[in-house]
Amino acid sequence: MLQTRLCDVLEIRYPIIQGGLAYLALADLCAAVSEAGGLGQITAATLPDTEALRQEIRKVKERTSRPFAVNFAMGYRSLEPYLDVTLEEGVRHVTITGGNPEPYMKYIDARVPGVKKVILVAGVRAAQKAESLGADAVIAVGYDGGGHLGRDDIGTMALIPRVVDAVQIPVVASGGIMDARGLVAALALGAEGIEMGTRFVAVQECAAHQAYKDLLLKAKETDTVIMERSIGRPARVLKTGGAERVLAAEAQGATLEQLLPLISGKVNAAAAVGGDMEEGFVYAGQGVGLIDDLPTVADLFDRLIRGAAAVGARLGR
Ligand SMILES: Cc1cc2nc3c(=O)[nH]c(=O)nc-3n(C[C@H](O)[C@H](O)[C@H](O)COP(=O)(O)O)c2cc1C
Repeated sequence: MLQTRLCDVLEIRYPIIQGGLAYLALADLCAAVSEAGGLGQITAATLPDTEALRQEIRKVKERTSRPFAVNFAMGYRSLEPYLDVTLEEGVRHVTITGGNPEPYMKYIDARVPGVKKVILVAGVRAAQKAESLGADAVIAVGYDGGGHLGRDDIGTMALIPRVVDAVQIPVVASGGIMDARGLVAALALGAEGIEMGTRFVAVQECAAHQAYKDLLLKAKETDTVIMERSIGRPARVLKTGGAERVLAAEAQGATLEQLLPLISGKVNAAAAVGGDMEEGFVYAGQGVGLIDDLPTVADLFDRLIRGAAAVGARLGR
């Protein structure tokens, strides 16, 4: 059941991708996920500079010989220098999110043909466009997910089969998936793999502050909210002091300039890495209610793989 086309295309053992995680998708987590048989990622956008990216990539290469990806989020800074480092270091997988991927896909292909390009989408048209541009797979992210979302509020359950029917390339389901039940459900919808973000924050190898992990353990499915909707960049976060402040400012009609100091990466990092849940905000998906422990990545994979077999057997009965 878990041997899908995605495994062949990405050359991974299990069709499980660790989401790009702002400030948290670093070498320890990435290497652990890839070593467990999934696809780990380093997030380029929130590293201080290109040299930091090079160091993270080298650390991963020391710890695993298996494939891993670098995640590129558009809209923060010029991506080309980070792409150059990624390609120079021999990384063979990239994921791209947050806008029109065409220039970056061309940039990569012109330099190193054959690099696997996986594009994050939140709707059918974007998936078809990614396919037409030569994407190797798409990750379709539903409204249930943590972090930045599409603007159409389409839940994972409704989105995945629509995208599956619209493209030929493998579709990876993302948003609200936390355990083996979600994994099997995604496969039942026609996806050929899953991406998990929030679940990979609540593991031993993730650099998230303990206060963030504690909040994930406590939170229920009703404890997330969407902020930044007023500026067209909806993002699902936990209900923290920082998130409440953003929502209050948005309710009062704050301009982008007024919101920027409240929604900056610094405020996110202060909470996610620094543990300041009063002032800061942190991302999480609606599936957070399903998280009640902090396993190692290897234990999480073991549970997902065994659990998928058990769910399959139950359905078979
Ligand atoms: C803490 C956190 C940070 C995230 N940062 C990024 C990012 O930098 N790049 C990206 O492509 N997606 C990012 N996302 C989105 C995830 O890659 C993924 O699409 C999402 O978490 C899936 O939903 P889930 O959290 O319910 O699993 C982030 C998600 C979380 C929870």
